Amino acid sequence: MSNTIIVGLQWGDEGKGKIVDYLTERSDVVARAQGGSNAGHTVISGGQKYILHLVPSGILWPDKLNIIGNGVVIDPLGLLEEIAKLRSQGVTITPRNLLISEHAHLTLPYHRALDLAREKRRGVNKIGTTGRGIGPTYADKIERQGLRVTDLRDLSSLAAEIKWRAELHNQELMGAGAERIDVAAVVAEITSAAKQLQPHVANTVVVLNEAIAAGKHVLFEGAQGSYLDIDHGSYPFVTSSNTTAGGACTGSGVSPRKIDRVIGVAKAYTTRVGSGPFVCENENISDMLHGMGREFGSTTGRARRCGWLDAVLLRYAVMVNGCDEIAITNLDGLDGLDSVQICTHYELDGKTIKHPPATVAEMERCRAVCETHQGWKQDLSGITDGSQLPPKARAYLDRIAELAGARISLLGIGPARDQTLVLD
Ligand code: GDP
Ligand code: IMO
Ligand code: MG
Repeated sequence: MSNTIIVGLQWGDEGKGKIVDYLTERSDVVARAQGGSNAGHTVISGGQKYILHLVPSGILWPDKLNIIGNGVVIDPLGLLEEIAKLRSQGVTITPRNLLISEHAHLTLPYHRALDLAREKRRGVNKIGTTGRGIGPTYADKIERQGLRVTDLRDLSSLAAEIKWRAELHNQELMGAGAERIDVAAVVAEITSAAKQLQPHVANTVVVLNEAIAAGKHVLFEGAQGSYLDIDHGSYPFVTSSNTTAGGACTGSGVSPRKIDRVIGVAKAYTTRVGSGPFVCENENISDMLHGMGREFGSTTGRARRCGWLDAVLLRYAVMVNGCDEIAITNLDGLDGLDSVQICTHYELDGKTIKHPPATVAEMERCRAVCETHQGWKQDLSGITDGSQLPPKARAYLDRIAELAGARISLLGIGPARDQTLVLD
């Protein structure tokens, strides 16, 4: 493997965790570079299900190094809980296989409270956030008043550093009629967490660059998806980080010149969780997938909104990310259908458009124009080689590749690690 960025091409939950886990075998280091515990990456291996929020999905491979990079926002309490849960599932986590960037910003309990209070204030216009404090943490970072992992080092000043920030945010919380944060309790919790996390803290920019210089292969694990990107997504119904390929470089301190490949991950259909425009949304597909017990969020348990594959979004995301290849997951979700559809373009105010428009109002006025393909009506979950794919499934994939403008190199036909086929 070379240095490879894995990005979501839709609205998150494309199956990035599963693809990262699969590709970790041929990598040396797995790094997260943006997002925080809003992410929920599911990996199923050896019959066990693991859900990763902050810990990279390479952690199930004991001899690989996992890095939480500078661009990630880290909830120290959530991270400790996640580590404890993974350990209880038999996963080994030590400072030898998990490093945390000293430059990363911290999500504190007041960020979570602010996230909920701001969502409440937005009322019907709420974003539908995961409630994990992501927006307020990145806002503090950009406002240059964030607390960073490096601040956990100096326990003599930590209490004072937390106090003024918590008091500042308490003013907003009280103004919003929300409960104020118990500053002393936060100081105690974070001080205890600081001691536990300390051995994992490092300058991960140096670690990553030295690994690359030594010829090691790094896998950058994207979180969220291209249409949740703060710049390129369906703003304001987005997350607060750059989820597209460029975010992997700024969020890790690795130069774009060191990146060899970008693999985009997309479901064979489209899903979205949270509010915002969704041109291809389709109630029948949502009902069908929910009826199969599929498409419930890994972080919040919310039912995901579902629709046909949107090739307008796919093509644009392939362009923005510079994808060489696509991994299509969940093809098996469409196994039982007589016919399947792909949205090839939109119609907006009587005109054909081939790129997603910039405003929510325009997105909401877009009509999806779809083409219909015959279904393959065969259980794909037991297939072990791409050559066994029914011709109708192959034709569906070929058409996706043609519309997206990138080849399909990996295919998911079930949630388990070994239900991943190499097509190319
Ligand atoms: P991520 O956030 O991109 O890592 O994706 P999630 O883990 O949140 O959501 C993807 C869901 O699809 C999870 O429940 C996975 O176990 C599941 N999954 C991934 N790939 C496949 C696949 O090819 N087939 C099936 N049936 N499930 C898959
Ligand atoms: P993974 O990495 C799907 C969505 C939320 C909401 C919006 C903003 O598992 O693909 P936030 O809490 O980030 O401020 O919420 O973004 N969202 C995700 N949707 N998968 C995710 O991550 C998501 N992370 C955030 O539902 O619409
Ligand atoms: Mg997810």
